[in-house]
Amino acid sequence: MKTAKGKLAEIYLDGSARIICPPDLIPAPGQYLHAHADGSDLPLPVPLFPSLLFPPDGFRTAPGILPSWQPGETLFLRGPIGHGFSLPPSARKIALVAFDSTPARLQGLISPALQQKAEVVLFCDAATADLPEVVEIQPVKTLPSNLPWADYAAVDVDRVSLNQLKELLGGSGKAAARKEAQVLIRATMPCGGIADCGVCALTIRHDVRMICKDGPVFDLTDI
Ligand code: FES
Repeated sequence: MKTAKGKLAEIYLDGSARIICPPDLIPAPGQYLHAHADGSDLPLPVPLFPSLLFPPDGFRTAPGILPSWQPGETLFLRGPIGHGFSLPPSARKIALVAFDSTPARLQGLISPALQQKAEVVLFCDAATADLPEVVEIQPVKTLPSNLPWADYAAVDVDRVSLNQLKELLGGSGKAAARKEAQVLIRATMPCGGIADCGVCALTIRHDVRMICKDGPVFDLTDI
């Protein structure tokens, strides 16, 4: 893990931003950076998840930057933090599931998926933009019937929606879990693993795990 200065190059209408940073700080899909603005009096850093990657210059974040940040702002960055998604090279039918949010945090998987000639279906109820035409979009409620089609699934869900996700998946979740499926669990992560604050604690299979450093991406079978 590294620390370095970066720059906020551009802010988009959806609340995302383009960040310029050293190449070894660019987080892989599912990982994140912790960011502080120069001179900010906010005590806690902001987690920045990548949406689109622009190596070697930087990346576009998922929505969620601070409203007070301005283009040109210097950011103090730490990361990449946590475990990201692992797209199996053999996967040819890939389901991306933006369960309760925009697909931004999954978007970085689309380009490598298409490069390995996979079909990609995005399950999402939020507005989508800037997606390749070949990506099929389906409503989240169709997951139970469609998920068994996939040979790899990547899910993005807030910790508070985990039970709803499990309820919706039911048997199809178990079917998906027999293949390869991963889930990015979003939570408040004030220390990003350096202070063991426990705010992001999650009980998985009777073990307490920290979403910030043991995740944020976990195997779907484990939840
Ligand atoms: S955010 Fe502090 S332990 Fe995870």
